[in-house]
Amino acid sequence: MIVLGIESSCDETAAAVVKDGTHILSSVIASQIDVHHKYGGVVPELASRMHLEAITPVVDQALEQALIKKEEIDAVAATRGPGLIGALLVGFSFAKAFSFARNIPFTGVNHLEAHIYSLFLTDTPPEFPFIALVVSGGHTNIYYVTSHDHFELMGQTRDDAAGEAFDKVAKMLGLGYPGGPVIEQMAKSKNPDNIVFPRTLLDKDSFDFSFSGIKSAVARYIHDHDISTLEEKARIAASFQEAVIDVLCQKLIRAAKFKNCTRIGISGGVSANQTFVDRLRQTAATDRICVFAPAPSLCGDNAAMIAARGFTMIQQGDICNFDHDVFSRNRI
Ligand code: KG4
Ligand code: ZN
Repeated sequence: MIVLGIESSCDETAAAVVKDGTHILSSVIASQIDVHHKYGGVVPELASRMHLEAITPVVDQALEQALIKKEEIDAVAATRGPGLIGALLVGFSFAKAFSFARNIPFTGVNHLEAHIYSLFLTDTPPEFPFIALVVSGGHTNIYYVTSHDHFELMGQTRDDAAGEAFDKVAKMLGLGYPGGPVIEQMAKSKNPDNIVFPRTLLDKDSFDFSFSGIKSAVARYIHDHDISTLEEKARIAASFQEAVIDVLCQKLIRAAKFKNCTRIGISGGVSANQTFVDRLRQTAATDRICVFAPAPSLCGDNAAMIAARGFTMIQQGDICNFDHDVFSRNRI
């Protein structure tokens, strides 16, 4: 089955053509980062307008790169939520129109489930059950995934998402947006134990996260010290990253042990952080736990993961009709 996937929940307009839920024929991403950059964050109204401009050319490009004609598409999947309503509506309405015009099924995909499905787009996907972390600019959620339709939420952030903390710390250090990649790069040359920032683990039975304490500690440190040199910024970047990685790794391993589960899959923008992936693999190996991560190009928002999740939903008959609407807040 050939599925056209469409993603437009935030500031990326993306389309992809995926065969049988696992084989990517094309994946096109048009980013709006440059437009929102000067406002210091995503402007919802601007995002909707830019999605409208980008959606048709992006889909055309995805079909072209896949060497597929519209007539060969068997089904369409688009992000239904969570995300910015105006932005979601563009992709979701496009999918409805495409499905109506071609008389093929369409389905609406949960963006967080889709991130987890980026793990099925690798050569070595995890078997069920596995512990899944979705760690991005908007979410830090741990799930226990037992089948294609069972995601048990074990924990989530009570304040900032991990990616959001990377972005805010980068902003404080004057390093620009998005913060994750530049912090990871700067941290490479430095000893991460240089400055000890707090690890907020909350109470020991909880799988919830809190990253605002680490962020505030960095703000206080910056306030009290001269951070004008690149050297000092790199020290802060490395020590901050270390604190976040420490918390993520500890909670994930604890969740796996709690469920007696030997597989952990990570996804979302922050899982592109190789220092995190390597550390998690190392730590997990001592407990004989295997770590699965998407290819770096599939960690951030993309439409291949939407098509992959859509494929399993369509196979199970979980199809949308034209009355279905988008949603802004997470439902899993
Ligand atoms: O999944 P994503 O593309 O969009 C959301 O759904 O939020 O994630 C974006 C987030 C940003 O906060 C960005 O700073 C973070 O992922 N990120 C990283 C890295 N690359 C992207 N964080 C840490 N290290 C990275 N290498
Ligand atoms: Zn995302």
